[in-house]
Amino acid sequence: MRSSDLAARFQAEFDAPPRIFSAPGRVNLIGEHTDYNDGFVLPSAIGFYTHVAVSPRSDRRLALRSMEFGDGFEFDLDQMPFQRLGSWCDYVLGVAQSLDQAGSRCSGANLLVQGDVPIGAGLSSSAAIEVATAMALLSLSQEKIPITDVPRLCQKAENEFVGARVGIMDQFASCFARAGNALLLDCRSLAFELVPLPPDVKLVVCNTMVKHELSAGEYNLRREQCEQGVRILSKFFPGIKTLRDVSTEQLMSHSDELPAVIYSRCRHVVEENQRVQQTVQAFRSGDLNRVGKLMRESHASLRDLYEVSCRELDIMVASAEGLPGFYAGRMTGGGFGGCTVNLVASAHAENFRREVAVHYRQETGISPEIYVCSSADGAAIQGS
Ligand code: GLA
Repeated sequence: MRSSDLAARFQAEFDAPPRIFSAPGRVNLIGEHTDYNDGFVLPSAIGFYTHVAVSPRSDRRLALRSMEFGDGFEFDLDQMPFQRLGSWCDYVLGVAQSLDQAGSRCSGANLLVQGDVPIGAGLSSSAAIEVATAMALLSLSQEKIPITDVPRLCQKAENEFVGARVGIMDQFASCFARAGNALLLDCRSLAFELVPLPPDVKLVVCNTMVKHELSAGEYNLRREQCEQGVRILSKFFPGIKTLRDVSTEQLMSHSDELPAVIYSRCRHVVEENQRVQQTVQAFRSGDLNRVGKLMRESHASLRDLYEVSCRELDIMVASAEGLPGFYAGRMTGGGFGGCTVNLVASAHAENFRREVAVHYRQETGISPEIYVCSSADGAAIQGS
């Protein structure tokens, strides 16, 4: 949808001209389940966006509409719900509460949300609506909050209001990603570097179209297992605060003290952090075959050690192997369904899309959606 259409619809709905703020979804190239362990990630935004059109109101009400979901909401800013309502408006309410707590008091506003980030596909449609909402509400607020605080505030909204214990990666990428690059993020310090992606390569995102029910519970369980690993290892190495601080040698030297499943989880995180650094070096030296090897290792580790893959993801990854122009692929995001990300030479991307779809459909009976993407700009970059 064009922004002029969104503005026209807003005008018809609220009888006022809006300002429009947009934030993208993301894929993660490597560094999976490392963000909540203070580790490293390498996401890239993709050209699917959530747009939030906004105008001020003279009263203390928040009126919310969505182009995708029929239901609209209206809230009194002085009597906001403390708990999630189980609807799309939770993301907006969570962000409003988070901004409020950070000292940026929301003023009355009309909001119309429209987006094309596939929902429930692991491409961070939730981070996109959170970040776009934060930018929209901040534009009306008297008390300014630095843009660098936006990812944390949006993460807090999702952790505390929506109730998902996610890490910082998605919100950060949605804010600060840059077209033409991946973003190497240190999830402890939030320092980041841009890593140029080869210009003649597409990010082909293959949606398995499944989302297994257990994903949220298993995600929280993985976090607890990592924390348990840290508790045990820190008895031997008091300096260890998170798995980010653990070396392979430290982990190996105390493998017997860890329950087998905890050891596997820790090993994935420790080695995945190393793979992120190695992948960055490989991109910088133009060695896409090495990137491919590291991404394959990452997928195998997520499947066998971290156990967050599923049959459909494994089939989608296998469907890509051997196709012309294919360099690398693996599951991306939290797992248990969602998407794979693939690096494919631009000239072969369309053929790749067709071939993968045929193979995946044959094996699973499910028609996948496959998106040929380029890396895109985050919300903060577009707004600047
Ligand atoms: C989800 C979460 C992220 C991250 C990934 C796994 O996408 O939202 O914070 O933990 O899973 O890497």
